[in-house]
Amino acid sequence: MPEFVRSSTWEKVLNFIATSDEPAPYLLMDKDVVREKASVIGKGIRNCRVYYAVKANPHMEIAGLLDRPGMNYEIASEGELKILSALGIKPKRIISSNPVKSPAFIRYAVDYGVEYFAFDSVAEVDKLAAYAPGCNLYVRLTVPNEGSEWPLSKKFGIEPDTAIDLLLYARERGLNPVGITFHVGSQCTNVYNWSMALDKVSSVWNGAENMGIRLKILNIGGGYPIRYTKEVIDIQSIEEMIDTLIAQKFPEDIQVQLEPGRAVVGDAGVFVTSVIGKARRENVNWLYIDVGVFNGLMESIGGIKYQYMVGSRASTQKWTIAGPSCDSFDVIAHEVELPEPMIGDHLLILSAGAYTISYASEFNGFPVPKTILI
Ligand SMILES: Cc1ncc(COP(=O)(O)O)c(C=O)c1O
Repeated sequence: MPEFVRSSTWEKVLNFIATSDEPAPYLLMDKDVVREKASVIGKGIRNCRVYYAVKANPHMEIAGLLDRPGMNYEIASEGELKILSALGIKPKRIISSNPVKSPAFIRYAVDYGVEYFAFDSVAEVDKLAAYAPGCNLYVRLTVPNEGSEWPLSKKFGIEPDTAIDLLLYARERGLNPVGITFHVGSQCTNVYNWSMALDKVSSVWNGAENMGIRLKILNIGGGYPIRYTKEVIDIQSIEEMIDTLIAQKFPEDIQVQLEPGRAVVGDAGVFVTSVIGKARRENVNWLYIDVGVFNGLMESIGGIKYQYMVGSRASTQKWTIAGPSCDSFDVIAHEVELPEPMIGDHLLILSAGAYTISYASEFNGFPVPKTILI
């Protein structure tokens, strides 16, 4: 049995492969892991409401599985809201933390009844004043993302002084500034990111209070890591630290919002792919499989290293693993030690439940793999 996958998941995966005639590639999602992760995340932080970041895996059945007491949803687009609307999720359980939203999405969300939005610019305040008058706003700060395998800090967020000015501007425009948000970067393995972020938020919180704005919501984004090829700090320890810092730095009646994506669904997923080709070029062994950068493994080019498994008992060699498309960008891993598989053998990719299918396209005519819940 491979490291970092639960024995119960592994058993279900092997059983599915042995008994099903479903052709690869497909993504198997262990429902029990999703349910269990959803039931523990956020429990270590007082006054914490959890919003599943739908982008991590927007499959309708996954979103439906998470429709349980205590779980809410964070969305960024009309497409994500349509999934929740089809499931009958009430607008009170939905927020949007995408700091830059299209006017069409804002209108659609407001019609649905969504009332909480993130922002980080004057233009966004103006847009929200026009399309979501009176809505509740939380401002996004930039925070350190060092040690996060999928950093998110450059595209969004502002510094404390600008944040206070923007909160004041939002109030002037008749909106309701209620809080502050940040994201430490996805797959964050550096706990100090949360502590530095909370220091920064605390200075804005107090600065806003001095300017007559009493905030109540602290949205701490996502970022909890999962195990791909190495051990990571556990969620309980991260939450213990966050909870202690919040108790030290913020008022007792603070409402905390948490938006986990990867940690809810990532380690529930196993990609079942097939080996479609092999080659040796310039002393490198190449293995080609039917899932690549474009149809499911986009994060492999941004630093996420997956664990790969084959059933072969041949001696191990180092492989460069590539996807099926004609594009030479479509290379997902280097120097992976694996026994040599045969063409047509399955190659399994572990902890693949987050940001895989949701990023996938049909580039070059290769289909987006099916998601199957087990
Ligand atoms: C605003 C926001 N919230 C939450 C998340 C989820 O983050 P993670 O999957 O790291 O938990 C993301 C990820 O991009 C995000 O942009």
